[in-house]
Amino acid sequence: MNKELAMFLEELENFGVANDQKITDKSKRMRNVTPETGQFLSFLVTTTQAKNILEIGTSNGYSTLWLADSVIENDGYVTTLEYSASKAELAKRNFEQAKMSKWIDLIVMDAGKYINKVESNTVDMIFLDSDRKEYVEWWGDLSRILKRKGLIVVDNIISHSDELQDFYELVSNDENFKTMKLPIESGLLFLTKK
Ligand SMILES: C[S@@+](CC[C@H](N)C(=O)[O-])C[C@H]1O[C@@H](n2cnc3c(N)ncnc32)[C@H](O)[C@@H]1O
Repeated sequence: MNKELAMFLEELENFGVANDQKITDKSKRMRNVTPETGQFLSFLVTTTQAKNILEIGTSNGYSTLWLADSVIENDGYVTTLEYSASKAELAKRNFEQAKMSKWIDLIVMDAGKYINKVESNTVDMIFLDSDRKEYVEWWGDLSRILKRKGLIVVDNIISHSDELQDFYELVSNDENFKTMKLPIESGLLFLTKK
C-alpha cells in the first residue's frame, strides 16, 4: 500500500472512532471494521486473486478502500452497496480523495434489490457487513451469485452471534457450502461454495 493511502485510511479510522463515540443514532455512525480486519480483507483479496468483489454495506467507504487496494493488483474492481444517500456521499468523496474511484463502483440502493438482479456464478468474493436481519432473506441470491470456490466473508459472527444465529444455522446446513468461523476482531465467518 502506498504511504498516501495508508495515511488516509488512518485518518478515516480516527474519524470513525471519534464520530461513533459521540453519536448514538445508528444511521449516523460509521461502524467501520477495525484496521486489522481491513488488512486481513485486503490480504484475502490478494491470496484468492479475486477480481469481481461485492461489498454489502459501504458506510463511508473505509473497508471498501482496503478491498480496492488489493483488487488493483488482480486487475479487478469492487462493487459496493449502500442505501443511505448521506453515507454514500461521504464514501464517494473519500474514494475521490484516495484516488481510488476508478476501481470502485458505488451503488446507492437497497442491497436486496441489487443482488436479485446479479447474474448467477459471477462474483469471486462477497464482504457482508450490513443490516444483519436481512442476511437470511438474502441467502438465496448470495449463494446463487457467488462463483464456485468463491468466498463470502461475514463480519460480526462473534460480537453479534445472537443476531446471526438463524443465518449461521441456515448456511452451515447448506450442503453446497463449507463454513468456518475465525476469531479475528469481531469474528469473521467464511463461506466457500463447493
Ligand atoms: C456496519 S456499516 C458498514 C461499514 C463498512 N463496511 C466499513 O467497515 O467501513 C453497515 C452499512 O450498511 C448499510 N445498509 C444497511 N442495510 C442496507 C441495505 N439493505 N442495503 C444497502 N445498505 C445497507 C448501512 O446504511 C450502513 O452504512
